[in-house]
Amino acid sequence: MSDSTQRYTITAALPYTNGPIHIGHLAGVYVPADIYARFLRMQGYDVAFVCGSDEHGVPITIKAKKEGVSPKDIVDKYHGIIKKSFKDFGVSFDNYSRTSADVHHDTASAFFKKMYEDGKFIEETTNQLYDEEAKQFLADRFVTGTCPKCGNEEAYGDQCESCGTSLNATDLINPKSTFSGATPTLRETRHWFLPLDQYEGWLKEWILEGHKADWKSNVYGQVKSWIDDGLRARAVTRDLDWGIPVPVEGAEGKVLYVWFDAPIGYISSTKEWAKREGKDWEAYWKDENTKLIHFIGKDNIVFHCIIFPVMLKAHGDFILPQNVPANEFLNLEGKKLSTSKNWAVWLHEYLEDFPGQQDVLRYVLTANAPETKDNDFTWKDFQARNNNELVAIFGNFINRVVVLTNKYYGGLVPQPQKLSKIDEQTIAELKAYPAVIASSIEKYRFREAQAELMNLARLGNKYLADEEPWKLIKTDADRVQSIMYVALQIASALATLSEPFLPFTSVKLKGMLKFSAAENRLESNEKSQWDKISTREALLPAGHQIGKAELLFSKIEDEQIEKQLEKLEATKSANAAEAGKVEPQKDTASFEEFTKMDLRVGTIIEAHKMPKTKKLMVIKVDTGLDQRTVVSGIAEYFKAEDIIGKKVTVLANLAPRKLRGVESQGMILMTENAQGKLVFVNPDEDGVEPGATIN
Ligand code: 2FM
Ligand code: ZN
Repeated sequence: MSDSTQRYTITAALPYTNGPIHIGHLAGVYVPADIYARFLRMQGYDVAFVCGSDEHGVPITIKAKKEGVSPKDIVDKYHGIIKKSFKDFGVSFDNYSRTSADVHHDTASAFFKKMYEDGKFIEETTNQLYDEEAKQFLADRFVTGTCPKCGNEEAYGDQCESCGTSLNATDLINPKSTFSGATPTLRETRHWFLPLDQYEGWLKEWILEGHKADWKSNVYGQVKSWIDDGLRARAVTRDLDWGIPVPVEGAEGKVLYVWFDAPIGYISSTKEWAKREGKDWEAYWKDENTKLIHFIGKDNIVFHCIIFPVMLKAHGDFILPQNVPANEFLNLEGKKLSTSKNWAVWLHEYLEDFPGQQDVLRYVLTANAPETKDNDFTWKDFQARNNNELVAIFGNFINRVVVLTNKYYGGLVPQPQKLSKIDEQTIAELKAYPAVIASSIEKYRFREAQAELMNLARLGNKYLADEEPWKLIKTDADRVQSIMYVALQIASALATLSEPFLPFTSVKLKGMLKFSAAENRLESNEKSQWDKISTREALLPAGHQIGKAELLFSKIEDEQIEKQLEKLEATKSANAAEAGKVEPQKDTASFEEFTKMDLRVGTIIEAHKMPKTKKLMVIKVDTGLDQRTVVSGIAEYFKAEDIIGKKVTVLANLAPRKLRGVESQGMILMTENAQGKLVFVNPDEDGVEPGATIN
């Protein structure tokens, strides 16, 4: 890193304010962002670490409708809960704002207006999906359907969360309104589009050539594949009543697309902070020397690597992100975390069951961080990491050092005698740790960095176990002075180096070791608290008085883990009961409408999984009329070889459509069994042959 006046703007994704936050949020975004921000501050850099609540957008409106309250009620409730959780877990934002704040409305409006006046948008009237019943245009999460890219049947109108592709609602196959379940009609409406295609050349140069080496391969790979697939103009306004009004004449009843306003929230949060602190916000967003880093989850990559940078570029006077270290997803006990299915460990509930143990969760989430692939949180692993690592290694080492120093020397750091080879080697190893940990953090490898921190605690444990001061105290008191002196230097290094990862433990440990003004002061030749561990002869000089031992970590018992597992079992049962509920009958279909459907018995004669997709199967069916190809999203549930010869029900006259370049000529009817598994609607009676009509 360069000189200590380097300025950083660190952003963490603004969470939607439609529910509390859970371990997936913490692991994917906020703990890594916090480790990074704390580390940079410890280097003496000038850091603005900003976030806030994302209060617009469809998720909020949907939640409000479900609860029969206004969107404002929803955001007011969850903004408070979320803000408190961040504070409780030590996420050290310099500012936590909200997108309903005036400063944000003004900033986002002005941003749009400048782009509008500079002619950066295309204004166009197009056909958009419309729910006749709800009298509502359908975009984003108001509509679901099949992703044209991967076949996921639950893709949203703006994005498929399965393959990450960013979509326009009209791209969805078999779209359905999430209000009424109705198939939308098309209706004309006027909107403003950001012509992403015009920036393709620039994006290629900036990302594909400029960041191949320094962006994480999961991020770079996704971005490259989108750019290679070709970018299209994207509407940045919506026909909704919840959001920031489009600040243009003739745009009544329209608001900014939530993904247009939300990232501008980083700028407004910085403004709010700068005003409070008497700083100049523009330096953090417009000075070429400022490094802008976005911490996000993988579902946000397209917005932070393509759409927001294009907005910043088009606006003309902003810096661009230097890196976007997106994480993959965290699962819970093998299943995808889900707010709506209550499959989560909620932060506020965790604190009720494990009061004061925030650092344990931070530690486990970093040790298992989904940095390069999706990862799993299990309660057993949580218990093991606490008991075998935090308690048995870190806590045990500190406890021994503090207890023995009090016992032998009344808490005074002893004067070392002649250091042995092993002492010198141990001190040399200790002094190498700050650079090793820093290098991992600078590469956004937080698990590796934290593992090195634990290696330092291991070094201390091993040193004490090998040197056995408790035995030597009777025979060689001089030697014990040196041993305890060295061990105290390791303990004090741990107090400092643990700060980004285990902030509460670090404070407690510094208190125990009585880090006072003298220990915290930097000499003129010392760059930072971090570096002085390597450069200063001793962090705790002989004669320094430390305090009494306090427990840093405590053992987590089997019963505590059982209780958490029982909670999850209860959630599973509740979800199964919910899933078993029979869906209400749909609107009446006339006899004529029914007879329009040409349903036939068919036999599957060939099948293979479509390459490069998770769900799609290409199936050849003998319909009695012909042998035709049907593409079906069942590949996760069936092996091709197991379905050949099966009799199925086919909707034969469904208009053909292309899925991944293959024309699907009909639909095979499926249903779900009690376990939620897809099964065929199977006309199994003897003598029923392909071609037989169903009526
Ligand atoms: O995915 C989400 O939770 C979004 N609310 C993230 C927004 S990040 C940003 F751009 F503000
Ligand atoms: Zn998809």
